[in-house]
Amino acid sequence: MTAPARGYLTERLAGFGTTIFAEMSALAVRTGSLNLGQGFPDTDGPQEILDAAVAALRSGHNQYPPGPGIPALRHAIADHQRRFHGQELDPDAEVLVTTGATEAIAAALLALCEPGDEVVCFEPFYDSYAACIAMAGAERRVVTLRPPDWAVDPDELAAAFSPRTRLVLLNTPHNPTGKVFGQAELELIAGHCRDRDVLAVCDEVYEHLVFEGEHILLATLPGMAERTVTISSAGKTFSVTGWKIGWACGRPELVRAVQTAKQFLTYVSGAPFQHAVARALALPDAYYEGFTAGLRAKRDRLCAGLEAAGLEVHRPAGTYFVNADIRAIGEDDGLAFCWALPERAGVVAVPTVVFYDDQAVGRPLVRFAFCKRDEVIDEAAARLARLRA
Ligand SMILES: Cc1ncc(COP(=O)(O)O)c(C=O)c1O
Repeated sequence: MTAPARGYLTERLAGFGTTIFAEMSALAVRTGSLNLGQGFPDTDGPQEILDAAVAALRSGHNQYPPGPGIPALRHAIADHQRRFHGQELDPDAEVLVTTGATEAIAAALLALCEPGDEVVCFEPFYDSYAACIAMAGAERRVVTLRPPDWAVDPDELAAAFSPRTRLVLLNTPHNPTGKVFGQAELELIAGHCRDRDVLAVCDEVYEHLVFEGEHILLATLPGMAERTVTISSAGKTFSVTGWKIGWACGRPELVRAVQTAKQFLTYVSGAPFQHAVARALALPDAYYEGFTAGLRAKRDRLCAGLEAAGLEVHRPAGTYFVNADIRAIGEDDGLAFCWALPERAGVVAVPTVVFYDDQAVGRPLVRFAFCKRDEVIDEAAARLARLRA
């Protein structure tokens, strides 16, 4: 077979190879290493919601569900937003069920951006953002978050906006830094959106993983409800990352726009899992409190282990992840370090630099996931400690 002269992959997607998570998880399997790379828990979610999924499968919920999602789930999402965030939503017009937050982000960008529009985002950024911005034909304008506090520089933020800015793509609590955007920073971002008539897409998949501070919805700030798409999913909150049930919420016109793109991406999303997630969202406060407390303890456990191993730890306020600076153990290239780590220590981690355009800032940082069993965290820390010996 002769390859076409133009090649296969479009220019838009050039440079977007296999995601780092897939590469690192494959490396973990290949080398039998402990996987602190990809952010998925190594235990299942609550039995009662697994049972609800099985019951849904067995009771005939196996055909295409309604396009916006089954009514029970849309109501459960609206109830959840009111209960935890004080956000009022009409479940029939302001909630769209998607195939994970990933699809919601893609659909939002495809629906809301014209080619040539600019999207302001914060680096390090979750890897699908750059790819989805590119697929929409838009361009990213990046504001850099730097350790140790990952603060937004107001001047850098202002400079990222231009007359071509269409939207701000925000993630809070933030992967991979673990930052929880505070009130003042959100006000600053909201101010730019209002002043410049810019939309916002806010990815909040770690909304229940806040250990310090408070999760504030950008959509609840003055003037932001009419311009913000709020996105989340069941994957992290209920430890079912493989189910891929997510949602996009906002004013009817915004949700309708996102649905216009979504319907041609996947049409509809996982019917039986929608039933189970509707049940999950209604779990009592004790579930949510226990979930947060459990992950807080894991954060503390891994941070202590990494510190004992000699790394400089940037303690996260939220999410599943902690970043460590490897210069403290005489290394400085996170990418080379992570590729060699399975061989050297039997541990897989993710080089934070892959989430940065500014390579110099990300170079010495390595991201470790702590959504793992305690014995896995302890063993990984012990193995890392041997690196210094
Ligand atoms: C910031 C962020 N957004 C979205 C996702 C993906 O969410 P989902 O699995 O619901 O598509 C992840 C998963 O790691 C994430 O970290």
